[in-house]
Amino acid sequence: MIAPSILSADFARLADEAAAVAGEPGAGADWLHVDVMDAHFVPNLTLGLPVVESLLRATAIPLDCHLMIEDPDRWAPGYAEAGAHNVTVHAEAAADPVMLAKNLRAAGARAGLSIKPDTPLEPWVQVLRHYDTLLVMSVEPGFGGQSFRPEVLDKVRTARRLVDTGHLTVLVEIDGGINTDTVEAAAEAGVDCFVAGSAVYGADDPARAVAALRDQVRA
Ligand code: DX5
Ligand code: ZN
Repeated sequence: MIAPSILSADFARLADEAAAVAGEPGAGADWLHVDVMDAHFVPNLTLGLPVVESLLRATAIPLDCHLMIEDPDRWAPGYAEAGAHNVTVHAEAAADPVMLAKNLRAAGARAGLSIKPDTPLEPWVQVLRHYDTLLVMSVEPGFGGQSFRPEVLDKVRTARRLVDTGHLTVLVEIDGGINTDTVEAAAEAGVDCFVAGSAVYGADDPARAVAALRDQVRA
């Protein structure tokens, strides 16, 4: 699966930018990745629930909301209630990640748990049984256009092994520095869903950039 990140899109034209990656049925973006930042959990500020609500009305692509915010226990369920398909919170920020996952699912969304590049996977394995997605950050969260950190692939391999042996049922997602040079290594390590911001929206033709990533994964 390919999830273009609108962090690198033109925020004044979000409906058009979503349409630009929709592509032909079955060929375009699987999810649209929406980076919510609060200037506290990360040193950057982007958008919040009102923009997500507008985007939900503007596109049929399922929204993958990545909440880089403090106190996700309080704020994340609102994104699920609004209709986001997948709502991902940070393990480093959640006070009660099990209860939070239950609340997200009860509100009708998939629940995602994200870990930063330096956060180990092991302490979260038991908690992940309550989640549908594991988002492994391959850059420090906060900004698009950073370089991929290959050392995080060890965590992806571990997660893949746990999924394949039936110890976990999560979809493994990677976020940060994914482009046609790095996507193959991530795919080999066992990633199911690839987030790409600058590689898609920095390209002249975003739909072609999505197709190019998909081709690389399948190669
Ligand atoms: C960074 C965000 C990413 C960002 C990725 O904190 O979580 O989703 O958009 O951008 P690229 O693909 O340019 O690294
Ligand atoms: Zn993200």
